[in-house]
Amino acid sequence: MYHFYNQYCAEQAAKSRLRALPSVDRPVSFDFSSNDYLGLATHPDVVNAAIEAARQCGVGSTGSRLLSGNYRLIESFERQIAQSKQTEAAVVFSSGYQANMTVLASLLSRRVLPAPPIVFFDRLNHSSLYNAMFLSGAQYVLFERNDMDDLRRQLQKYCVASRPAFIVTETVHGMEGDLLPIAQVVDLAASYNCFLYLDEAHATGLYGPQGYGLSTTVDLSLVSHIVMGTFSKAIGGAGAYIACNAVMQQFILNRTAGFIYSTAPSPVSVAAAAQAWSMIPSLAAQRQQAFSLADLLRRLLRACGVVVMGDGTNIVPVCLGDECATLALKNALLNEGMMVSAIRPPTVPTGTSRLRIAINARHDSQCVNQLARAIAQHVSLPAAGG
Ligand SMILES: Cc1ncc(COP(=O)(O)O)c(C=O)c1O
Repeated sequence: MYHFYNQYCAEQAAKSRLRALPSVDRPVSFDFSSNDYLGLATHPDVVNAAIEAARQCGVGSTGSRLLSGNYRLIESFERQIAQSKQTEAAVVFSSGYQANMTVLASLLSRRVLPAPPIVFFDRLNHSSLYNAMFLSGAQYVLFERNDMDDLRRQLQKYCVASRPAFIVTETVHGMEGDLLPIAQVVDLAASYNCFLYLDEAHATGLYGPQGYGLSTTVDLSLVSHIVMGTFSKAIGGAGAYIACNAVMQQFILNRTAGFIYSTAPSPVSVAAAAQAWSMIPSLAAQRQQAFSLADLLRRLLRACGVVVMGDGTNIVPVCLGDECATLALKNALLNEGMMVSAIRPPTVPTGTSRLRIAINARHDSQCVNQLARAIAQHVSLPAAGG
């Protein structure tokens, strides 16, 4: 049977799409590929919290939350998250992929809803959200990312009172580097009586008055909703949360298979995330640093005629379109000691291959200038006589 899998990989290779792990030995002076946006992954207080938790609680949770795996630290962290997100409750998961896959699928379950649901789904949503929807078998309508006219049109066309409706989107897009017009989405969800599912993977730690995400900037009380976020980006660790009301918390505990049948997150990762989480409000200067440097990079690149996507975020995608050109530029930058991510289909739509540059609080204007110069040099621009 191995030949089927071998054949699949050979086909990917023939399309220059065979994935391989990057070398861990390559010297890198500047890492623009990391999602550790605030530098918390190595912060001494975070590291010490993890060590202390390992000493006190051990490295494993020993079972699922409903059996042996519940512990004080995880419950107090959930209370802390709920307070920061201004929700009644929160539920912690081992990863964002797991949280999305399993929570969204259970929300859309035909066993629970009175009629087949319809999902208004951001075309550029993350793989975990797509797979949750596919798993549920729900009917879905795609809307163009951040196109509120398109979303309204689709809602007008397909929303009917007899069918439960959902809107699923990301508040900050990890590959587009853009911000959701969240207030408009909340208004539309309220007008069409849709359940709103927001993924704040790339917003958590960076937006809102205290840094706890864009969802804290709007009044969500008029819509049924769930807000999801991860600890794997700006929180610097691993795991994820669902912020919700008490009803949804109880539902997750009773229906979400990935919660019920999976071992609870390790005390080590929960302690690290809880420590990092508590530091978020005090990191306004670090957020500002990342945003201003990203803004500088956008300006430098645009001034050279490079196509840069997004605005207002620390994620700066440089769109080359062509897959091979994107990979070649990534490798050229790596040869100069600068690590960026090359993002190609199927992660992004065909023809929109891009470099994904993630600016973090540890970067400075010197390395950003160096990166901008190197990109401008390598990209063959029409203005440069190409
Ligand atoms: C928008 C979005 N949602 C969910 C996830 C999954 O999170 P995790 O890495 O914690 O599994 C990611 C990670 O890349 C993401 O970008």
